[in-house]
Amino acid sequence: MEPVTDLSYAPNPRSLPGLEKAVGQCRRCPLYAKATQAVAGQGPVLAAIMLVGEQPGNDEDLAGQPFVGPAGRLLDKALGESGLERGSVYVTNAVKHFKFVPRGKRRLHQRPNAEEISICRWWIDIERKLVKPRLIVAMGATAARSIAGKPVVIVRRRGLISETDGVHLMVTIHPSWLLRMPDPRLRRAEFEAFVADLKRARAFVL
Ligand code: URA
Repeated sequence: MEPVTDLSYAPNPRSLPGLEKAVGQCRRCPLYAKATQAVAGQGPVLAAIMLVGEQPGNDEDLAGQPFVGPAGRLLDKALGESGLERGSVYVTNAVKHFKFVPRGKRRLHQRPNAEEISICRWWIDIERKLVKPRLIVAMGATAARSIAGKPVVIVRRRGLISETDGVHLMVTIHPSWLLRMPDPRLRRAEFEAFVADLKRARAFVL
């Protein structure tokens, strides 16, 4: 049986703690039913840069915090090499619940679909209003779609800064993509390119 959803649940919290509480009660789409908890963004209010990922993974779902698993460790490394401190940026996801299929004891990540991304925009729009970032860095296709409101071809837009709805947006790759690359030389080169994108983001807000 499909879980009961409630699209009329549309609170308008005025603070990040309020947002976290409200997201925790979200039933706007069916993803809440299987996830352990919702994972709101993390970072200082009024951060100059908002980093957006896809959705919480297995580790994030259990911890209740974004980017604390393998992709998060790689992101932290890239941020460090770019001169950005993790604690100075607001880190969040396009979709706030972990979407997965169970496989034995494992939970295999599934990409959120266009409807789930669109329904979850409610939260990211509030995060944007509260944090008022000067630059949003969308990591990967799901984040780019959420922020741009339409599909984005990452390779075409990667690293470029453009203005959408009064906010500047940079699209780049998702760190999980690097983790899936089998060739270590290629992975290193792509990691460097990711760091270069983050350096450009840092220079933009300096
Ligand atoms: N991948 C994401 O997109 N977000 C996380 O929080 C973790 C992994």
